[in-house]
Amino acid sequence: MAEDLKIAGGSKEKQYHSLLPQISALLEGENDKIANMANVCAALKEQFNFFWVGFYMVNGGDLVLGPFQGPVACTRIKKGKGVCGTSWEQAQTLIVPDVEAFPGHIACSAASKSEIVIPIIKQGNVIGVLDVDSAELNSFDETDAAYLAQILELIEFNS
Ligand code: SME
Repeated sequence: MAEDLKIAGGSKEKQYHSLLPQISALLEGENDKIANMANVCAALKEQFNFFWVGFYMVNGGDLVLGPFQGPVACTRIKKGKGVCGTSWEQAQTLIVPDVEAFPGHIACSAASKSEIVIPIIKQGNVIGVLDVDSAELNSFDETDAAYLAQILELIEFNS
């Protein structure tokens, strides 16, 4: 297992490109999902200095806070509520350039300005989401959506 991340500079694409094999190495041989989710959060936070990176996992009728990096956050989110609950309901990635313009956005922190939420789908069901928040407007695009989905694949939620 790598002991330190090598933090790349350059374009977002270059940064993800450098990070992906490092995360792959970090998770290799470990099948504990919580440990792997925790390290994915840490690696993304360290590389991009996102404001908040974390998982919410479906538990009964709610999304419940899982491993994360950043300030303390809301513990439970209902289906259809906020960006996370909407991503869960629609089973779709949501890119929100300005959280204040998203109806029903749940403000865990006023410092969060833009957000991306990627659903984790196992056998056709959403089992959780990865939520990434930025302190700047308009931080996320299709590049983030594609690479974050690849990073989620590395956790092997389906195995
Ligand atoms: N903003 C999210 C809630 C989670 S926090 O951002 C960590 C939402 O609207 O679902």
